[in-house]
Amino acid sequence: MPIWASLNFQDSASPGMEQLIFFHDFTMTVVTLITVMVGLNMFFICAYKLTNRILLQEQSVEIIWTVFPVFILLSIALPSLKALYLLDDPFNPSLTIKAVGHQWYWSYEYSDFPGIEFDSYMLPEENSNFVARLLETDNSLVLPSLSQIRMIVTGGDVIHSWAVPSLGVKADAVPGRLNQLMVYINRSGVFYGQCSEICGANHSFMPIKVEAVPMYYFINWTMKLN
Ligand code: CUA
Repeated sequence: MPIWASLNFQDSASPGMEQLIFFHDFTMTVVTLITVMVGLNMFFICAYKLTNRILLQEQSVEIIWTVFPVFILLSIALPSLKALYLLDDPFNPSLTIKAVGHQWYWSYEYSDFPGIEFDSYMLPEENSNFVARLLETDNSLVLPSLSQIRMIVTGGDVIHSWAVPSLGVKADAVPGRLNQLMVYINRSGVFYGQCSEICGANHSFMPIKVEAVPMYYFINWTMKLN
């Protein structure tokens, strides 16, 4: 759940998001250190004219400030690639769900359970079930926690984007094309997302609400719907 005026990520609910937060913190540390170092250098050079023959002409200095950044870049690139490939790995999904973006709502198809498909519209503030502005939906996407889920994302009319920050997933919903997302939710709860591709007048009003429940409750839910 997003928090008003919060500066950091939402609490993570998946191993993928855990990785992304770790990578973000690591990269920010490197960026901060570089900024401070370069900033101090520039300050001292400007304030005290701290330049000398070694800094300006010596070849060894040149080699150091070429090779050192290469290692910094490598130390960022490797964990980045690792996170990227782990996020994309189609492990062994126990469930496949199709999300279709429409102007302006999402519809979900539970392909493993014939007959289960529904639309998910935003709830207006006047509704009695209203909780969070612009995030509440009439039908939420119910998913089992602690299981590997494959989301298939596509568009029905124009390009939308299916994104849930606390699960660390985002994929464009392109008409005539299937995009795949792997979702693993490590706790029960309600997680919100929004369409993340400008898709028209009501782009802001087609939220995503994921309800993660234990497998037992999920099966019960599917049986009630069938
Ligand atoms: Cu759908 Cu933006």
